[in-house]
Amino acid sequence: MKSHPVTAPRLTDSELEEIRALIENRSAILFDASRERFFSARVRGYLEESGLASGTEIFHRIRSSSTSYESLLERLLTQETSFFRYPAVYSALQTTILPEIQERKFWKNPRTLRIWSAACSTGEEPYSIAITLCETLKFAEAWDIEILATDISRRALRHAERGVYSRRSLQNVPFVQVETYFTANKHGFQVRPRIHRMVSFAQMNLADPSYVGKVDCIFCMNVLMYFSEERRLAVLRRLYDALEPGGYFLLGHAETLSNVPVKFEPVVLGDCRLYRKPGAAAPEARRVPALVEEAL
Ligand SMILES: C[S@@+](CC[C@H](N)C(=O)[O-])C[C@H]1O[C@@H](n2cnc3c(N)ncnc32)[C@H](O)[C@@H]1O
Repeated sequence: MKSHPVTAPRLTDSELEEIRALIENRSAILFDASRERFFSARVRGYLEESGLASGTEIFHRIRSSSTSYESLLERLLTQETSFFRYPAVYSALQTTILPEIQERKFWKNPRTLRIWSAACSTGEEPYSIAITLCETLKFAEAWDIEILATDISRRALRHAERGVYSRRSLQNVPFVQVETYFTANKHGFQVRPRIHRMVSFAQMNLADPSYVGKVDCIFCMNVLMYFSEERRLAVLRRLYDALEPGGYFLLGHAETLSNVPVKFEPVVLGDCRLYRKPGAAAPEARRVPALVEEAL
């Protein structure tokens, strides 16, 4: 029997560069020198599994097929997240942000409260927000609440919409909240309908100008670092515009805003730095019902 020479698929630096440029162009996600090894390892993994012979073949395939493009992109996204990832942020939401919103909006008609989880990954972040709202707002049912959860990754969004989590992923959630907001089934722990109903999911590339309406607070955690400086500033401008005056903008723990073309007021609360959009009218002088029942 004749044996065929086995040639390893070829992936040169210039092929990687072409693929990188296509991804930046189409999805605005930048793989700079700091993510060089991650990028080439993931593209190589895709090459080996796809049965293609070279980086050039990948390039042609992803350029002409959106399914192939998305399949490569999914491999390149980092979806690390967890419930109550930064406890200080949820405590700020409970003790500062929600009381301010309540002061400002309780007597408005309609009484809407909108929070945007702008890179929600597999859903732990928007569900943590929903739980905090339930724990904090005394009259949650009196509000028209929407937590808008968006992400570029369809796979992550499918997981998020399903709302089923392992015991391990619930390790930061106090037992009493697991009991209250999840039901155990053979797949894991399912978020209860009360929490699920508060969240609406949509696939969205933050770099694309999409209309989301006005929101009271934006969780924009651990995503801005994937954009080039120019795109980052454009994204920030749009997020700023989407915020109501007096609205809050929240970043991940190691992230800060400096030299940006938007006028946020930094607010430091313990370990947590928040950004507030100025310009809210003074809260109504009418009494609002007590808001915070107990700390998280
Ligand atoms: C590290 S996770 C952060 C998840 C969550 N915000 C947190 O801090 O726990 C980054 C998320 O950003 C998403 N992402 C990356 N680029 C994006 C883009 N251009 N538009 C929208 N989402 C994007 C990824 O799919 C991923 O789910």
